[in-house]
Formats: sequence, C-alpha cells, structure tokens
Amino acid sequence: MSQDVISPDRAHEIRAAKINGQAARRRTFAVISHPDAGKSTLTEALALHAKVIGTAGATNGKSNRKDTISDWMQMEKDRGISISSAALQFSYRDTVINLLDTPGHADFSEDTYRVLAAVDCAVMLVDAAKGLETQTMKLFEVCRQRGLPIITVINKWDRPGLDTLALMDEITERTGLLPMPLTWAVGIAGDFRGVWDLQRDRFVRFTRNNSGANIALTEYYTPEEAAASEGDVWTDAVDEAGLVKDSNLPFDPESFYAGKGTPILFSSAALNFGVKEILDTLVDFAPPAAPRPDVAGQLRPVADPFSGFVFKVQAGMNQAHRDHVAFVRVCSGIFERGMVVTQSRTGKSFATKYAQQVFGREREVIDEAFPGDVVGLVNASELRVGDSLYLEDSVEFPAIPLFAPEHFQVARSKDPSRYKQFRRGIDQLEHEGVIQVLRSDLRGDQAPVLAAVGPMQFEVVEDRMTHEFNAPMRFERLPYSLARLTTVDAIATLGLVHGAEVLLRSDGEYLALFNDVWALRRVEKNNPDLALAVIGTQS
Ligand code: G4P
Repeated sequence: MSQDVISPDRAHEIRAAKINGQAARRRTFAVISHPDAGKSTLTEALALHAKVIGTAGATNGKSNRKDTISDWMQMEKDRGISISSAALQFSYRDTVINLLDTPGHADFSEDTYRVLAAVDCAVMLVDAAKGLETQTMKLFEVCRQRGLPIITVINKWDRPGLDTLALMDEITERTGLLPMPLTWAVGIAGDFRGVWDLQRDRFVRFTRNNSGANIALTEYYTPEEAAASEGDVWTDAVDEAGLVKDSNLPFDPESFYAGKGTPILFSSAALNFGVKEILDTLVDFAPPAAPRPDVAGQLRPVADPFSGFVFKVQAGMNQAHRDHVAFVRVCSGIFERGMVVTQSRTGKSFATKYAQQVFGREREVIDEAFPGDVVGLVNASELRVGDSLYLEDSVEFPAIPLFAPEHFQVARSKDPSRYKQFRRGIDQLEHEGVIQVLRSDLRGDQAPVLAAVGPMQFEVVEDRMTHEFNAPMRFERLPYSLARLTTVDAIATLGLVHGAEVLLRSDGEYLALFNDVWALRRVEKNNPDLALAVIGTQS
C-alpha cells in the first residue's frame, strides 16, 4: 500500500501560499485624530458593522461607555495610568482587519506615535465642525514621514459644521494631499441624508435608527431617483463633488499609496452613517500586509520564516501580576505560540509560551498570527521598543525613531538611601521607551531630566518608580516646551542664554531646549551658525 508523501519543497510551497494568502487578507490600520473627533465612537461603529459586538454604546456618551469595547484609553482609576492598548481584530467580508489603538486624550504620548510604525495605513478622522486640529496634524506628520497612505473621514456630519469645499481646501493646504472623494455628503453638515457613492454612482440613503446603537438602515438609489427625491440637495452634492474631482484627481489607488492623494469619505459615527463605506474602502483599497524593508533596505518577503518587531512595551496591565507585555507586529511567516524566536539586538532566544491578543482588559490566548497581526508577548521584560524578533533567517528591522519631546521635568529620588533603586528604575523605564532621559554635566547624574511627548508619561514613570522599583521620587517641572537637535558646541553658546539649555540624550543626540518659540528665534538670530535642527515630528 502506498501513501502520498509530500516532498519538503511542496510542503514549503503550500505553506508559502498559505502565508501569502493570509497576508493579502490583512488590513492593519490606526485612526489618527484629535481628542473628541469621534475615534472611540467610530471604533465601536466599525466593530458593530463587523459584528464583533451586538450594540454600539457610542451614543450613550463617554460616561456610560465604561463597559463597551472601545474602552481602551480608560485610565486605571486607582493608579492613574493608562492600561490602554493594542489591537482590535475583526473580520469583514473576507478580510481580517487589525485596528491598532493610538492612545489619545490626556495619555497622548510617544506610544501614540510608535503605533504608526506598525500599521500599513491610517484613517484621519476629522470633526466636520473643527477641521484639522493640532493633534491630528502632529500624527499626520508622522504618517507622512513613514509614507503611510491616508484615508480621510469627515465625521459628525449630522451636526452643523464647516462647508464641504472649505474642508477640502483646508486638507489640500495643510496636508498637501489632494482630496479624492469616494463618497460625498448629500445634505449640508447638520442635515445628513446620505452619501453619493462616486465609485458605484448611486445614492446611499441613511435612516436614523435607535440613536445609532444599531446599524443604520441603508437604502440605495440611482442618481435619477436621488434627484427626484432629494431635489436641490442632491444637485448641490453632485456639483460640489464634481468641482473637487475636476480640480484634483479622480480616485486613483496609486496616488493614494504614494501619499499624494487621500480618499475622502463622510460619516456620522454616532449614528452609524457611512461606516460600512469606511470598511469597504479599507477592504477594497487599503494596502495589505506587504514585505517590510530591513535596516539595509532589503525587503523581507511575507512568506519568509516568522519575523516581527516590538512597537510598544506595556507594564502593569494586570494589577495582580505586574507583567510586561511587548506588542509585536508580525512582518513575515506564521507566528505560532510556543515557538522560540531570536531577539536580534542581543542574539538571545525568547520563548513565546505566553502569547496573547490583548484588547482593553480582555485577553485571549493566541495560537497563530500572520503578517499584519499584532501579538502581545507576556513576561517580556527583556524586550524593548524597536527590537526585532525572528525565526531561522535573521533580520533586523529599522529602529523606531525617538520623537520630539515637548514636556520636561527633573526627576529626583525622594529618599537618598534608595538612589540605587532610583537609578535602576529610570534606566529600565528609558530602555522600555516609557520616557526619554537627558543628562548634562551641569545637572549631574542624581537629577536627570525626563522628556516626554505627552505629560501622561510622567505619571506612568512616577507610579512605576514608586510601586515597581520601590524608589519614591518627585518631579520639578522645567519651563521648556521646545527641543531642537544640536551639537556639542551648542553647550558653550547656550549655557549663557536665558530660557535655553543643552542636554545629551542617551541615543547620543544633543538636544537644545527652549522655553518657547521666541527664545528659539532669539538664539537663532544671535547665532546664525548654530546647528538647530527640527526633530522628526515637529511641524
Ligand atoms: P474620541 O475618542 O476621538 O475622543 O471621541 P469620542 O468617540 O469619545 O467622541 C467624542 C464626542 O463626540 C462624544 O460625545 C461622541 O458621542 C460624539 N460623537 C462622536 N461621533 C459623533 C458623530 O458622528 N456625531 C455626533 N453628533 N457626535 C459624535 P460625548 O463626549 O460622549 O458627549 P455626548 O455628546 O455623548 O453627550
């Protein structure tokens, strides 16, 4: 009796085909927005459409939303720090969608930026009444530097807001992206009747349903039917969208991928209007998980053995066990729980026995993950932000850059006898990427300057120093709000200037800190030869 034996080559081919197929099904994205634009509400609405949850809690308002699925950014009340994190995974049509959280609100921090290193696309959510706000622009800058394609969603169209064309002008002027409408609002802000689906040339009419707790009733009409039922409102929408199309480009996926144009969609996340259209756009046009370049610029094919990189390390998510979770974006191969991978920075092996998908407070053991997915590795205290992990064929992905800090405080140990613990704690938190640490001869080692993108990072440091490292500490706020990259020569020049100081960051960069933009301008004017370079994310 003969048995069919699959040759190793054939087995390899089958496995590669499986991984390629799974990677092609993945859409990994984040929502970038200013607080209150509706990110949590949209997350719930997306999950509702993808049937992850039965009823969206969004319209109940923040205060009643404690138990809903988007409760990512809720701070752990008793400790005052963020437990936020990770990725929400759901299927829609035949696609697996990974929505990575970009912590916002008060806990806006370096983590928010780092998440953008792990996604393939971003949805820029804009409040129709407010247009492009500061935090949106900062996050947009990071996306632009990473070359991420951006889908723009104008939200809260059920409320009075700006004029459509004014919004398009603002997008063009401030982001440089050409608006390429995929849908266009029918009815001015505050009178949202539906959208013109430009791809399919049809009117999608929305009907309010249970205040948005359920999927809105959606009906489709031909343009002729829409003209008959909506009259001037329809004609206005068609005229406006036509103007935008004429002055820019028709929707063109290539210009979207190249970061030249941005597809435009309109929504009311709170009423679940236009949400299906966002999901369809992700499925139809957002890039799938693709080969990632390594430090040398070589692409690692998705079907290669497992590889990934850590984009975030979170400690203290579980109060009972003070654990460290390292979030890894899978770049190639299949992640299988239990596999032993190599950490490229140290060459050490790391056992992935405890791998989880973490979402808010919910954790689920994960057994398998594909390129584009996010895996939370528990007890990963040796892993740092930016570390690459691999199986078999070694790879090192590019480091995640440090971002421009805007908040500065001196850290001091409250108890001089615990200085050793203090020092160890600060070092560990720096390695994890919780905070940037700046030093200078002038200030000495006892009182390093901690630098953060968002003030919440200081709270995390204080809490962990007290509870985890047993090294109570205090902060002294510094008046600086602006940093520039400079050289060692600046120490002598700026040492004498009021409202400025130069410190050395652990990555070897000298940072010149200034009270405000006026202090910076003064120094620039008086010292035209001094090197003062903008740091990546600054606008
Ligand atoms: P964020 O995560 O981006 O910070 O925003 P979040 O979803 O929490 O939404 C901020 C507020 O905006 C919420 O109101 C939410 O209900 C409301 N909102 C979100 N999307 C829409 C929309 O499409 N239309 C309208 N009209 N409102 C929207 P809140 O702070 O909870 O107060 P309340 O209005 O519910 O009382």
